[in-house]
Amino acid sequence: MSDQSSSQPSAGARPAGSTSADNVSADNFVQIVDVVKKFGETVAVKNVSLSVAKGELFALLGSSGCGKSTLLRMLAGLESVSAGKILIDGEDLAAMPPFKRPVNMMFQSYALFPHMTVEANVAFGLKQEGVQKAELKERVNNALDLVQMGRYAKRKPHQLSGGQQQRVALARSLVKRPKLLLLDEPMSALDKQIRQRTQIELVNILDGVGVTCIMVTHDQEEAMTMADRLAVMSEGEIVQLGTPHQVYEYPNSRFSAEFIGSTNLFDGRVVEDEPDHIFVETTELPCRLYVNHGITGPLGMSVTISVRPERIALTRKPPEGAYNWGRGTIANIAYMGGYSLYHVELDSGKTVVANVSSLALTEIDSPTWGDEIYVRWSASAGVVLTA
Ligand SMILES: Nc1ncnc2c1ncn2[C@@H]1O[C@H](COP(=O)(O)OP(=O)(O)OP(=O)(O)O)[C@@H](O)[C@H]1O
Ligand SMILES: [Mg+2]
Repeated sequence: MSDQSSSQPSAGARPAGSTSADNVSADNFVQIVDVVKKFGETVAVKNVSLSVAKGELFALLGSSGCGKSTLLRMLAGLESVSAGKILIDGEDLAAMPPFKRPVNMMFQSYALFPHMTVEANVAFGLKQEGVQKAELKERVNNALDLVQMGRYAKRKPHQLSGGQQQRVALARSLVKRPKLLLLDEPMSALDKQIRQRTQIELVNILDGVGVTCIMVTHDQEEAMTMADRLAVMSEGEIVQLGTPHQVYEYPNSRFSAEFIGSTNLFDGRVVEDEPDHIFVETTELPCRLYVNHGITGPLGMSVTISVRPERIALTRKPPEGAYNWGRGTIANIAYMGGYSLYHVELDSGKTVVANVSSLALTEIDSPTWGDEIYVRWSASAGVVLTA
């Protein structure tokens, strides 16, 4: 199988300017080593190890209660670790007094001070640090310009939209020039449209500043769009680590495959295992499954084959190949504009979801509810999951 859990930072969507691979300390800017967090009997974080490179935008992803905020709070020094250690730029966080920690955290609910202007909100932290007036003014102005909120400096938070408030909160975090910026669900208060626009803006701002950022989200699209790399967490553990592309194309478990995007899972038994292919017998299809790479495991072992909806094609005629197809009827169609999601109920009772582009639909005469239809996919479409 291909390497799915590389811990090396790899170039994501952003230019890799500050993540040069030949600089070891830059690659290990944040080091989380065997970190455990217990709250009484509850183990919120179980033995997490993770390195984040300088300038990287890293996303922690997982369902509610899996330990994302707890891990972030430990990075911020707001929560002690029960075991393990955290190093930032080579220094042990535990040994640093709170005011010396080069970290700023933007919280899950990024409450601004309601009675203060935008300007005063952003200046607040600097004032507390005793920054002189001239410098303070310049830094506040720069931070507001960065998030394009300069012209709202005199407004109060209630006179701003959700997206604007979020940008002020970000300016308030950035103005302190942290080496490490921690964002906990930074866009949870925004509706979908502002959210998507803000995601792109935020990536551009963070790129411009060059700050290292660890972001928590439970929105997989958000993590995919924004992050250079991401970690999928479940029950306090990292299940998979990689670039969005690696995790999407090569999920290492059912959990990852279903959590990042949607997928079709077929259960079966390996009946032929060669270096360049495997055959899997399944009761869910009238034929075998074929995947064009070998696996390490005994013949007869149980596996799950994951096939993404966009890899599945619909045909009116029975496919000619001896593998990777099924026959069924169309049970549901969700029209999404540029594409449609077809739910096909196979003869075996299994439902397969196919993502079909509007163009491809016209080529098969736009099938509709109740039509008999065939699903098929190529030998390279399936990913073998053994966990
Ligand atoms: N102070 C605390 N005392 C006891 N248990 C806690 C405390 N903080 C968190 N927990 C528990 O630790 C686990 C992880 O919580 P955490 O807040 O890290 O989850 P999360 O991944 O951020 O979830 P969400 O997506 O809902 O924000 C949960 O089971 C939670 O109930
Ligand atoms: Mg949380």
